[in-house]
Amino acid sequence: LTPERYPVQRLPFSTVSEEDLAAFERIIPGRVITDPEQLEACNVDWLRSVRGCSKVLLRPQTTEEVSQILRHCHKRNLAVNPQGGNTGMVGGSVPVFDEIILSTALMNQVISFHDVSGILVCQAGCVLEELSQYLQERDFIMPLDLGAKGSCHIGGNVATNAGGLRFLRYGSLRGTVLGLEVVLADGTILNCLTSLRKDNTGYDLKQLFIGSEGTLGIITAVSILCPPRPKAVNVAFLGCPGFAEVLQTFSTCKGMLGEILSAFEFMDAECMQLVGQHLHLTNPVQESPFYVLVETSGSSAGHDTEKLTSVLEQVLNSGLVSDGTIATDQRKVQMLWALRERITEALSRDGYVFKYDISLPVERLYDLVIDLRTRVGPRAKHVVGYGHLGDGNLHLNVTAEAFSQELLSALEPYVYAWTAEQRGSVSAEHGLGFKKKNVLGYSKPPVAVKMMQQLKALLDPKGILNPYKTLPTQA
Ligand code: FAD
Ligand code: MLT
Ligand code: ZN
Repeated sequence: LTPERYPVQRLPFSTVSEEDLAAFERIIPGRVITDPEQLEACNVDWLRSVRGCSKVLLRPQTTEEVSQILRHCHKRNLAVNPQGGNTGMVGGSVPVFDEIILSTALMNQVISFHDVSGILVCQAGCVLEELSQYLQERDFIMPLDLGAKGSCHIGGNVATNAGGLRFLRYGSLRGTVLGLEVVLADGTILNCLTSLRKDNTGYDLKQLFIGSEGTLGIITAVSILCPPRPKAVNVAFLGCPGFAEVLQTFSTCKGMLGEILSAFEFMDAECMQLVGQHLHLTNPVQESPFYVLVETSGSSAGHDTEKLTSVLEQVLNSGLVSDGTIATDQRKVQMLWALRERITEALSRDGYVFKYDISLPVERLYDLVIDLRTRVGPRAKHVVGYGHLGDGNLHLNVTAEAFSQELLSALEPYVYAWTAEQRGSVSAEHGLGFKKKNVLGYSKPPVAVKMMQQLKALLDPKGILNPYKTLPTQA
């Protein structure tokens, strides 16, 4: 938890005064938090890898309140760190110094839902799992799902353009988010909260804020297109003898399952060992070098089960898979999903985690894991690979007893240079935040980086929104 590891200087923002606190108290009476104990949790990230020292937490309930807060902060040159569920993986959700934390936790109201169009409009602080629950009661689902569902907010999801476990089927939030309401750095409310599937009237401004990690504006409300709840969900959990077989299993599933394939995730044997060791989850199949989780979602239970069963027969008979199990009832489906979803948690219990989230050509997805195991040798406890194989997204994680500069130097910039050589992305879905902002150049050309800086200067000329994040430190 040492910010010294990331040499960065506090920019000349003002510090919060008694008058500022009084002004905030007038805007959101009783929701200005200065108690150090209450501030502790929101100063530290989920991974416990970065820590800020903010002395003020603001909990607005309405867009108008967010607007008044930002108007004040802009005028006074006070830096602000927007925070949702604080589950981000790149240190973007916590202050670096004493930035004011603006939490969306109390902005948790559903505004409207239409059951013909499936369009949900809600405030940014709605917890993803609560929205899922709300929709399930109405026979719909959220187009995204992730392991952090119990804590993350929809605003945080949009701000990070989170990918997750349903990306393969429902695509990016860039497609499913139909409208946004955003408060700009100076307090201006930008209302683009439309609920239209088609709208080509000029530039699509909401896209600027999707994935902007709180650096361009504070998202206060979201309009999102939700799919009907699939009547039948089946999950197969399979053990594969090698990565080549994982890839061939993926091709087989795409070919044989067609439109009902809704997820294709993978994990290696070390991940399985870690979820066993730290979370006491049991491996439902024979021990194998790799495991894949295949999900189907469709409207006809019998038809889908039949299809998945014939996939299983085919992959077992051809030796692509050495063992497998299928779940149709909800309890077993959830049990199989937990093996994959809870890897992040198991890793965090293993020690300090060096986390990489990379997009690569799928054929080369696992090469870097093998390469790194040799490179780092016994300096690491574990080098593991898992992730959203169906989306070409590898989660490469290295654990160690504690943070080690020597190990970090073996990993970086090596991992980034390797990724750039494959024309991959150094951040597939987690964003750049504080920890990755200086590696943007591995995946984007200088002209693109400059344009990002110009957009930031245009929308937030004083740089008060989530400073020290996303954009590279300027010389
Ligand atoms: P926070 O962590 O609070 O914030 C994240 C960033 O968004 C910060 O930069 C913050 O300043 C900004 N922000 C938050 N709210 C707003 C707002 N209203 N307006 C403007 N900016 C805002 N990510 C994936 O993509 N796919 C996964 O599968 C996935 N699985 C995860 C599993 C676990 C167990 C965990 C802990 C994390 C996982 N993540 C995953 C990381 C992911 O980015 C977050 O979980 C989620 O999208 C962040 O939402 P949040 O509300 O917690 O945002
Ligand atoms: C996941 O897919 O499990 C998440 O992105 C979190 C992680 O990378 O550990
Ligand atoms: Zn992921």
